Amino acid sequence: MATSLEANGVVVYDLDQLLNYEKPSLMRKMIDFIWIPFLNLLPKRLGFNLVKMSSHDAKVVQKYATSFRALEVMYNYNSNNNIDFFREKGLRKFCTIIWQNTHNAQAVRNRLKLVTRELEKSILHAGSNNVGIFSLAAGSARAVFAVINKFKSAFPEIRIEAVLLDKHADALDFSRGIAIRYNLLNQFTYIIDNVKNLKKYKYKYRTDVVEMVGLLDYFDRQNAMELFKSIYDFLEPGNFFITGNIKKNSEEAFIKKSIGWEGMIYRSESDLLELFINAGFKKDKIKIYIEPQNIHMIAVAYK
Ligand SMILES: C[S@@+](CC[C@H](N)C(=O)[O-])C[C@H]1O[C@@H](n2cnc3c(N)ncnc32)[C@H](O)[C@@H]1O
Repeated sequence: MATSLEANGVVVYDLDQLLNYEKPSLMRKMIDFIWIPFLNLLPKRLGFNLVKMSSHDAKVVQKYATSFRALEVMYNYNSNNNIDFFREKGLRKFCTIIWQNTHNAQAVRNRLKLVTRELEKSILHAGSNNVGIFSLAAGSARAVFAVINKFKSAFPEIRIEAVLLDKHADALDFSRGIAIRYNLLNQFTYIIDNVKNLKKYKYKYRTDVVEMVGLLDYFDRQNAMELFKSIYDFLEPGNFFITGNIKKNSEEAFIKKSIGWEGMIYRSESDLLELFINAGFKKDKIKIYIEPQNIHMIAVAYK
């Protein structure tokens, strides 16, 4: 049954065919009936060690849980960037495929596709040949790179500059490495700082869109409200704000106990909407897209 937020168009269950989303098949849903309760019931130590011993990718995700490095392992699954996956053989390879195809891992890759699409839309909407992205808690900034690379070939007349802010230097060093590889270094500015200091940077860089993905999930209501207010003040009328949050989902216990990915604050669509409204955004200028695993929401607001 459609909720009122769906009915009035704020919430959209996104099925964009062009994004090649990873969707749960009917067969998978049947297997999940037994598989997910089994995963969730694994005792913490046993589950953690089982995952750790069975796959290199999973071990790295456990080691760097919540950081950009763990996301990188999932983003690069089955891509040429993940040499470790191609090195795995036999049972270990099979296990890697299993862990990389948990609903949460698939949803993270779906989220990246959705963020990339929304960044593209907001850049085109800016209607200028010089566009600025301000990425907060940027991590490896994969969505920003995807967009810049796409525009380089599809719209070479549009120059995109990006500011990447992250409180950890290693995240920015990593994304600087990607920029060097793509020969894009002159389009990036790097800031090591806490998002809480955002107001220091107002008017310093051309900004059409602020993107902040993978961070709100760790901010409690009070901190999230303060952060949203500072982002609202930072934006100029006509700017976009793209963010997201994880929803409650069936694999939560497994992710916490056996992967060791802890501390997330699961929000509903209305919790997320409340943060926007409370900060000053108008309801008719907010859209919340939900990827097909129904785990990640990406919200886009226009000031
Ligand atoms: C889960 S990663 C998300 C990376 C990237 N946005 C993405 O979606 O792939 C979270 C990032 O937020 C950064 N971070 C965490 N707390 C922060 C804060 N208070 N201010 C700035 N960056 C922060 C971390 O260093 C990390 O790179």
